[in-house]
Parts: sequence; structure tokens; C-alpha cells
Amino acid sequence: MEITVIGAGYVGLVAGCCLAGSGNRVTCADVDEEKVRLLNSGDVPIYESGIERLISEGLAAGRLRFTTDAAEGVRTADVIFVAVGTPPGEDGRADLDFVLDAARTIGDHLRPGAVVVMKSTVPVGTTELVRAEIARRTDLPFHMCSNPEFLKEGDAVADFLYPDRVVCGVDSDRARRCMEELYEPFIRSGNPLIFMDIASAELTKYAANAMLAARISMMNQFADLCEQTGADIERVRRGVGSDPRIGSAFLYAGTGYGGSCLPKDVRAIIRSAEAQGVDLGILRSVAEANDRQTTVLVRKILKRFGDDLTGLRFALWGLAFKPRTDDMREAPSRAIAEALRGRGASVVAHDPAAMEQSREFYLGDAVDYAENEYEALDGADALVVVTEWLQYRRPDWSQLARRMARPIVFDGRNVFEPDRMASRGFEHYPVGRRQIGPAETA
Ligand SMILES: NC(=O)c1ccc[n+]([C@@H]2O[C@H](COP(=O)([O-])OP(=O)(O)OC[C@H]3O[C@@H](n4cnc5c(N)ncnc54)[C@H](O)[C@@H]3O)[C@@H](O)[C@H]2O)c1
Repeated sequence: MEITVIGAGYVGLVAGCCLAGSGNRVTCADVDEEKVRLLNSGDVPIYESGIERLISEGLAAGRLRFTTDAAEGVRTADVIFVAVGTPPGEDGRADLDFVLDAARTIGDHLRPGAVVVMKSTVPVGTTELVRAEIARRTDLPFHMCSNPEFLKEGDAVADFLYPDRVVCGVDSDRARRCMEELYEPFIRSGNPLIFMDIASAELTKYAANAMLAARISMMNQFADLCEQTGADIERVRRGVGSDPRIGSAFLYAGTGYGGSCLPKDVRAIIRSAEAQGVDLGILRSVAEANDRQTTVLVRKILKRFGDDLTGLRFALWGLAFKPRTDDMREAPSRAIAEALRGRGASVVAHDPAAMEQSREFYLGDAVDYAENEYEALDGADALVVVTEWLQYRRPDWSQLARRMARPIVFDGRNVFEPDRMASRGFEHYPVGRRQIGPAETA
């Protein structure tokens, strides 16, 4: 099939190169000229395992190309995916400007019978808005589909190639057959392609993210309770997660959820429900709990060092909102680094993938960047673990002891065991577990 994907970000790029990998001819269009230039020269603007190979194979086979001219791609496409960003607007609702821009380009150039697929995460009713926007600009027949994306950054390619399920909201046979044909290569092991109406597909995406966010916030509140009562959130997690009705994913207490999806999607569904007169009170609490949680480490740090951090130096391990991605959108590291700097401390950060993003778009030179995780420790009064990259989990403790000014670790992802930290002589402040204060290491 001839496919055009509008928006070559985390979602569009992954979808585009996987669909090219299964034999389709794919044009990925993006308004970002620098991104398109990089992609055409074989460079990959995002950090995502497996994507480089798919892109270079697609380019070499002539099945994948990148352009800034979406119109050119739309003119020849049987299927057009809209995968542009839907960032939070001022009131928290999804900002649909990029989506509607894409709709106008489609309306001006589409070929008869094309299927337009909404992949961006959009509130219920948006696919119909897009349909109306296109129909204002053309009399040609076309079909709409809502096909929300469930990939996880860090595992995005694998998630697309081997999805748990694919959700498609359709209202025509043509759209249904087209999605069956496109996804058939990826669901050969029997994972379901679930068809439904368009509104239900749109809401499924928000409901899924809302449930994941709720699990995290609930565990974070239980972690608070653990610290007050002497219970251990890691034991509680294992005990709870082994119940098959509950399952073990998304039960980790820590510094709160971040990234480009959960925070914005929770806020967006709350706002769009309000507009329908529906109060999603549970989700308002989930969001509030998460806002509070992003400062849990700062509160622990202030409790340990006092409110004035002037002259203190903190090593930050991890900038990305989670491991195996360079994405720092709504990453807890940003609030933590800014709070420490705001109280007079200096911060030296390390992240295996996100330092360039941080330097360019987020923390700039408000923090120093270390070549490797050990260099970040030199002279540090404390280590703050913000992202649970694998390489941070079993560090060389002798280097920590030698390089740090004081053996103090704030463990925002519970990567270290309290008992072992005590025997290594480290103060250790995890989330929802036994705190090893100065008295216990003396
Ligand atoms: N990132 C994720 O993990 C993830 C997962 C599931 C769903 N989603 C959803 O998918 C959508 C895209 O997310 P993303 O993370 O890929 O965003 P992104 O910001 O990484 O990429 C969006 C791209 O769209 C481009 N763009 C904007 N307007 C355009 C236009 N008119 N024509 C062509 N290109 C245009 C931007 O330049 C950018 O490169 C969002 O709605 C998001 O909520 C994201």
C-alpha cells in the first residue's frame, strides 16, 4: 500500500518505518526541516532501540522516504496516518492545532477513497472534527479511522511490531479492510485487532493511560503510608502484583510519572470530561498525587540538609523520564534539578541518552553534564537517582565511596536495597522503604 504519515516524531517515525518494513511504500512528512534533513541523511533524531536499522533498510529499499511536503505524500496515498503532537493547551485540554493543520493539508490534496487514520491521542469527537475539516475542502469520498497508539517509548519498535492489541475505530467496511490488511503482518501470533466505533476507540486510549497513571499514583500514596508505618512498598508491590486480577506492571513507587503521555493525557481527559459535565474526580486526585510526588526527593533532600542548599553539590543519575529513551517531556529530573539549583546547590547530571536533549531544550547549562556516571560523583554531597537505567543498578560502590564527598543516596526509583546500603555505610533515602539516616551509618 501507499502510505503517508504526517508527523515524524516518536509515534509517526516508528509507525512509518515499521509499515515500510512490512513492504508498504511510506512517506513520512514533517514540518521540522532539520528533522527531515537528518532522517534523509540516515541520522535518527530520537533514541529508540531498533529504529536505526529499520530506517536504513527502508531508505535503501526505496520503500521509505522523508519530506517536508506533506501535500506531495497525501496526493498519492491510499492511507494517511495523522501522528502529529497534541500538546496540552493552556487549560490542560489537548491542543488540536497541529491535527487540524494536517486535516487541511489532507483536505486540499487527498485522492478519492483514501483512508485517514488518527493516530495522535485526541479527545472523543476529534476524528469527526477532522472529517468535517477535510470535507469542507473536498467533495471526494474518503474514510476515517481512529487507531490510537499504545507503544511505550524505549520499546516502541517492538511494541509496534508485536502489539498486545490494535484498536481501530471505524465506520466503513473500506476502513476496516484497510486496517486488517495493514496490521495483519504484526498480529500473526493471534493478538487481537479490536474493531469498534470511532468514539470508543478515541476514549480507549485515554482510559488506558488514566488507569496506568492511577496505579502509579496509588502506589506512591501507599509508599507514603509505608514510610510512616514501617511497611516496605517493594514487598507490598510484589504481594499485590502477584494477584492475576491486578498484575504486576505500573506498580512501582518513585518520583512520579512523567513523559509526553501520562501527565498530559490525564489532564486532557479530566478537562474534556468537564466540558461534557462529567467529573472524573478519581483522576483529579491521581494528577494531584503525581504533582506532589515529583517533589518527593526534594522534600527528602531538604529534610536531610535543611532549606538552604548553598554550596552543596548533587550528582543526578538520569534525566530522561524513564530508561531507554531520550525524552525529557515532563521528566521529574527537571523539577528536581530546578528545585536544587533554586536553593543554591550545584547539580552535575548524567544520562546515557538524554544529555543532548537536556542541554538543547530543557536544563541548558543550569546543570553540568558528566561524561559518565562516575565522573558526576566527584565531590558530590549526595547522589540522586532519578531514572532507573540498567547501568545505575549495580554500580561500583568503591568508586562511589571514593569519589563522593559524603556517602548519601536519594533513591527515587528504589534501585538499591536498604539493608545492603546500610552495610555499605551509605545513608539511603528510597521511596516507601526503610530510610537509612546518619545515625544508622555512624
Ligand atoms: N510518544 C509516545 O510515547 C506516544 C505514545 C502513544 C501516543 N502518543 C501520541 O501520539 C501523538 C504524537 O506523539 P509524539 O510523541 O510522536 O510527538 P512528537 O512531538 O515526537 O512528534 C510530532 C511531530 O509532528 C510534527 N508536526 C506537527 N505538525 C505537523 C504538520 N502539520 N505536518 C507535519 N508534521 C507536523 C512535529 O514537527 C513533530 O516532529 C501525540 O498525540 C501523542 O499523545 C505518543
